[in-house]
Amino acid sequence: TRTGDSGVSITTRIDAATAGLRMRRLRQSDWSRRLVRETSLTADDLIWPIFVREGGGAPEPVPSMPEVFRLSVEGCVEAARRARDLGIPVVALFPYTDADKRDERGSEAFNEGNLVCRASRAIKAAVPEVGILCDVALDPYTSHGHDGIMEGDRILNDETVEALCRQAVVQAEAGCDIIGPSDMMDGRVACIRQALDEVGHRDTLIMSYAAKYASAFYGPFRDAVGSGGMLKGDKRTYQMDYGNSDEAVREAAQDIAEGADMIMVKPGMPYLDIVSRLSREFGVPTFAYQTSGEYAMIMAAAGNGWLDGERAMIESLTAFKRAGASGILSYFSPTIAARMPRR
Ligand code: PBG
Repeated sequence: TRTGDSGVSITTRIDAATAGLRMRRLRQSDWSRRLVRETSLTADDLIWPIFVREGGGAPEPVPSMPEVFRLSVEGCVEAARRARDLGIPVVALFPYTDADKRDERGSEAFNEGNLVCRASRAIKAAVPEVGILCDVALDPYTSHGHDGIMEGDRILNDETVEALCRQAVVQAEAGCDIIGPSDMMDGRVACIRQALDEVGHRDTLIMSYAAKYASAFYGPFRDAVGSGGMLKGDKRTYQMDYGNSDEAVREAAQDIAEGADMIMVKPGMPYLDIVSRLSREFGVPTFAYQTSGEYAMIMAAAGNGWLDGERAMIESLTAFKRAGASGILSYFSPTIAARMPRR
């Protein structure tokens, strides 16, 4: 027996201090760790964001996002088949738009033949069992890279909301199942709900980006959709200040009151406190977006051999569940689903 300075056995002292409770007992073996694990991840928790581009041919790599590609419409259909086979419930579509299709007002958003609409139709026709989420925001289509309509250097709220309603209707018509307003304009959820209902899309879901922060973690995404170089200034007059948490509660309350079926927090990993707070406060399905920058960080470190990418990926996604997320939008979705148990 080891004894301390006083001559009392260390074991006696520890048992006295812990009242015999030794937390490590349950961690001794794999079976006991698995038995008492509080949170686990399945493919059902995943939403897979996909980038769609014009033309056919091979997937085009996104330089700042290793192993992520811009896909042709046909490539998106293949990805949706893969999602179905892997048990991933939803794919989210994001268009890469060439500069020549962009204008000041983002008119391409209302073109029912735009990339996102063509990809939605093609996926719905080929793989109807997979849900489709489409972002509602003008940034993939504007020449200035902002999410809304501008006058001088101001983003006009109400004019933008009107445009977003048109965009939402066009996307619902094309087969989109979940509308994801990611623009952070005021009042857009109520207006979009009403616009969808008026044309008979009562069952189209709304997952609002309720707490979306003005973040450095969107950088690689903006490259992926072609708006990186175009963005003039920043998005701080509509996306939230990262110092705020109470404001996220007010944003979420507002979106839920306006008719959001589900809410989202974005970015993800640095904002788990917000995920936790909103999921507990409202009890509404709450999602987290592990953004392009978070993906790029893990991939870059793994690529340099600085951490084990595989383990970091699973750990990071499980942490979202632990924080209270119903599910996660992640570029890791297909990789991780291939390794996950299915219900
Ligand atoms: C568009 C939008 C963005 C993202 C999703 N929708 C970028 C932005 O707001 O600038 C970011 C996704 C990511 O970084 O993975 N409004």
